[in-house]
Amino acid sequence: MRADFNVPLRDGTVEDDLRIATVLDTVRWLREHHAAVVACGHLGRPKGKPDPQFSMAPVAERLGELLGTQVPLAPATIVGPKVHPLAATLAPGEVLMLENLRFHPGETDNDPAFAVNLSELGDVYVNEAFGASHRAHASIVGPPRVLPSAGGRLLFREVEVLSQLLAEPAHPFVAVLGGAKVSDKLGVIDALLDWCDTILVGGAMAFTFLVARGGDVGDSLVEPDMVGECKRLLETDRVRIPVDVVIAQDVTDDAETRIVSAGAIPAGWKGLDIGPETAAIFADEIGAAATVLWNGPMGVFEVAPFAAGTHTVAEAVADAGAFTVVGGGDSAAAVRQMGVADQIGHVSTGGGATLEFIERGDLPGLAALREGRKR
Ligand code: 3PG
Repeated sequence: MRADFNVPLRDGTVEDDLRIATVLDTVRWLREHHAAVVACGHLGRPKGKPDPQFSMAPVAERLGELLGTQVPLAPATIVGPKVHPLAATLAPGEVLMLENLRFHPGETDNDPAFAVNLSELGDVYVNEAFGASHRAHASIVGPPRVLPSAGGRLLFREVEVLSQLLAEPAHPFVAVLGGAKVSDKLGVIDALLDWCDTILVGGAMAFTFLVARGGDVGDSLVEPDMVGECKRLLETDRVRIPVDVVIAQDVTDDAETRIVSAGAIPAGWKGLDIGPETAAIFADEIGAAATVLWNGPMGVFEVAPFAAGTHTVAEAVADAGAFTVVGGGDSAAAVRQMGVADQIGHVSTGGGATLEFIERGDLPGLAALREGRKR
């Protein structure tokens, strides 16, 4: 079972276990049906060789706690003579966790030989890794070529909800996008313009839009190559950008902050959150929506002085009488930290995968499962 176990860690333990908790149904179902489960995933971006800071040990431990059983961790070779016997001798109902798949260069290289070796660890492949299914990596696209394969319950739910979101969304449909880079979101913004009435832009990516509008953004993060694209998007008149921002010279808990008009950031200062006026405007738009999609924080919400914008948006999405979908690790973590996740229609486990699914309506991992069925 390939899952998206790419969870945030703090001091060697799992900080947010959404991506582990959401695959439990599938693991329990497999165990109840007498399967021995070889669970695997990646964590962070190690460079094709073992790196202790990216070990799956904390994930195996948390999965074991949630299941109420021991989940031993296999050796860092991932495949081969040290691992194969462990998988082959599992009793029905037992669970083994493989080490971080990205400890092996074959994973991200999508090496067919590595995919075959991985497939030899099981009899049936389950893709329960919606959040990683936009990566054409060996563990995602390889096993369906050689093993009977199926999508897991979480993967189905993600595809179902996101398809429903885009099939016939109730209007007004408001998308709230944040995060660091316009370049990462350009495709999805273009796609969303086909469905959405309004796109609210916050986070660091807003500063490239502010430059496109002729504002001064001080030392804020800007992608100069994207200014032209931002101008084009602003001309649609459906993209709203901040009117005020929280600025500081340092990103620290005790930083001196100021609230300034969004296009008037002095040199030496950088924008780190949307300001209160913008947060109120965004909350009003969200409150009036019938469908809301939120992906990406409004500021550096992990640092207290820059968290208010993200918190206001999270509350507005939770309180909205709309069909609401929150995607992306940071926004999902924000609604969970604030205890409002159960007021959200669907908290997607996907970050890039959710955006790519919205943009293209398909993912390499889903295509591989379909192709596998034709075999
Ligand atoms: C994610 O966290 O979005 C997925 O696990 C994919 O991780 P990646 O961007 O490192 O491929």
